[in-house]
Amino acid sequence: MYTIKTIEWKNDKVVMLDQRLLPEQEIYNTYDDYASLAKAIENLTVRGAPAIGVAAAMGMALGALGISAKNFDDFFKKLETVRERLARTRPTAVNLFWALERMKRVTLENKTLSIPELQECLKEEAIKIYHEDIEANRTLGKHGATLLKDGMQVLTHCNAGALATAGFGTALGVIYAAQEEGKRIHVYSDETRPVLQGSRLTAWELQKHGVEVTVICDNMAGTLMQQKKIDCCIVGADRIAANGDVVNKIGTYSVAVLAKHHGIPFYVAAPLSTIDVKMKSGKEIPIEERNIREVTHIKDQMIAPSHVDVFNPAFDCTPNELVTAIITEKGISRSPFQEPFSK
Ligand code: MRU
Repeated sequence: MYTIKTIEWKNDKVVMLDQRLLPEQEIYNTYDDYASLAKAIENLTVRGAPAIGVAAAMGMALGALGISAKNFDDFFKKLETVRERLARTRPTAVNLFWALERMKRVTLENKTLSIPELQECLKEEAIKIYHEDIEANRTLGKHGATLLKDGMQVLTHCNAGALATAGFGTALGVIYAAQEEGKRIHVYSDETRPVLQGSRLTAWELQKHGVEVTVICDNMAGTLMQQKKIDCCIVGADRIAANGDVVNKIGTYSVAVLAKHHGIPFYVAAPLSTIDVKMKSGKEIPIEERNIREVTHIKDQMIAPSHVDVFNPAFDCTPNELVTAIITEKGISRSPFQEPFSK
């Protein structure tokens, strides 16, 4: 099977596919310091909740390698500056904070090690997080594939594929797993304004994997459902609250409402690292607002009058009653969701 290298730890550097340039150019950038990696998370060079988590962990490892310190306290203080910078990149994807907290915990658990040993230990932990993410996606993909039958037509929104993770993908991982079982799946990909993750990234990676894909504008999903061309929807998540409310790319909520109206199952695929049990409901989850230029321009082309008022939330919240099931590496949990989504 074709594999996309979204992010990789290579010779004590981080190599990432520049997702801003897809589908026209396939360029890999190399990072040897945490500050430029933090900028790459902010500017969407790397994006998608699990990939952001892996990038943050690798950013911590890069930061650790760059520290010279006499003792643990000095090292820890400097590493906290690294963690705080990485934590300021994107507020919604909980995988970022999950990975940073895990790196912090491992640091504290290993305070008796020498500084070079500690640096090595953090590097290993970041690589472990990377491998675990691929493993989780493969497992959840297999669980999710049981929901798909040969010949099904699936609608997805944004990109929750190999590009959004360390590999394989979540929502698209379900489709790849079904494909590996010999099922033919046709995907409708919402283009996903404002930054077009659906048309630029999802369509690109599905083509690379040999999955049949049709790109539609975001406002076309309703008509497809009305024409009975969609059998189910599968999306990823940036953060799932304890009650099963799902925060994902802006526009996900509209898809879920449409799916409910048409009696179409609406599935969410995400690793356990995306579930934030501290959030009782989706209302507590912070929603990132991004630069208005994402709305007023497509690349350098102005598509709205200058000085017009613009609203640009990057995510929305889909209430649990619109979610048919949540697919994680633990299995498939159906509504009503019980903490933390046991069956
Ligand atoms: O702004 P982005 O591109 O980082 O948003 C990505 C999404 O909303 C994805 O659907 C989500 O992170 C799940 S990725 C497996």
